[in-house]
Amino acid sequence: MRQPPIARFYAAISKVLRQGRLLIASEGDSSGIDLDTRYAGQGIAARLGHVIPANPMSVSSLPSIRLQNPSIQLRSLICIFGPLSYKSITVMQANEKIALVTGANQGVGFQIAKALADNGYTVYVGSRNAQNGEAAVGEIGGKARAIQLDVTEQHSIAAAAAQVQRDFGMLNLLVNNAAISHAGSRGRTLEEIMAANRPSAASLTEMRTVWETNVFGVVAMTQAFLPLLRNAPAARIVNVSSGLGSLTMNMDPSNPWRTSFDLVYGSSKTALNAITVAFAIELEGTPIKVNAVSPGFTATALNNFQGTDTVEEGSREPIRVVLEEDGPTGTFTGPESVVFPW
Ligand SMILES: NC(=O)c1ccc[n+]([C@@H]2O[C@H](COP(=O)([O-])OP(=O)(O)OC[C@H]3O[C@@H](n4cnc5c(N)ncnc54)[C@H](OP(=O)(O)O)[C@@H]3O)[C@@H](O)[C@H]2O)c1
Repeated sequence: MRQPPIARFYAAISKVLRQGRLLIASEGDSSGIDLDTRYAGQGIAARLGHVIPANPMSVSSLPSIRLQNPSIQLRSLICIFGPLSYKSITVMQANEKIALVTGANQGVGFQIAKALADNGYTVYVGSRNAQNGEAAVGEIGGKARAIQLDVTEQHSIAAAAAQVQRDFGMLNLLVNNAAISHAGSRGRTLEEIMAANRPSAASLTEMRTVWETNVFGVVAMTQAFLPLLRNAPAARIVNVSSGLGSLTMNMDPSNPWRTSFDLVYGSSKTALNAITVAFAIELEGTPIKVNAVSPGFTATALNNFQGTDTVEEGSREPIRVVLEEDGPTGTFTGPESVVFPW
């Protein structure tokens, strides 16, 4: 009797698996069956990298086939998948790690991207202005790549996700770093920003604009890149938040920063913390960790360069967190790795 398509597919895969490790990544829906599970107990699981076809029933639509062990003969794979149409075959190094940082053309995001590149990551340097992204990549070096990315523009997010899908089919680390502190003209002083953002004075339009980047932008990015994060053997989401967003710390009368807690920026970081917790809870029990981290009070464009830490000092804890591959999920820490209450 002729095997059904799905059985033929698994038979073909198992033949390849006997020769090495295989990763199949695909565009779109990744709710397909994990071959790891399918083959558990059949002596093949141990050889698996991570295999998630988008929809095993429509194998012919697999867009890319990726080998984790470059020593595997591409010819044998092409032979097995010969009748199928696929867009690309990419050979990856087994330990290749892919990261994307939003708002990485300057400030803390730039430092994070540089640290990732220095530690062997292929890092996408997100920048809403493409030229600024290219300039940052020139400075960062290593395996940095510029990617145009405005987190408030759905088409920009979708194009970036499609680019990463085409290039690698997966993502190990998403750093949601991009943020704004106000929606006024550049060069507004910190005092002016704080005065305008007081609860009694804040403009709803400005609040909506800031939340569009700091809150909804993070949700849009995370949802768009989750399929790619799920395609990786293990992945992490790091949200760059602020101690200013901690409700518990703001309710402590001895906290000198609490008077800066405002309706526009500070509250956007509280919302970001809530979003971090929500994703961390949903992804518990998966290989995807979700953490929040606060830089120090750092001299960057965000505060008209009035922060007290240099960008190198202020970026230390975010860098520690993004490089920590075996840490826990659901953490919120700040400078000197101090645990912040949510
Ligand atoms: N600096 C501090 O003291 C401090 C303290 C606590 C937390 N943080 C957090 O640290 C993170 C980095 O801030 P920073 O201090 O490094 O500020 P920054 O130097 O102003 O960097 C912010 C980055 O976000 C980008 N960005 C803004 N809107 C964007 C959008 N719609 N799409 C994509 N990118 C966008 C900016 O791009 P452009 O260059 O095009 O403007 C810039 O690259 C933020 O999440 C901030 O809230 C900072």
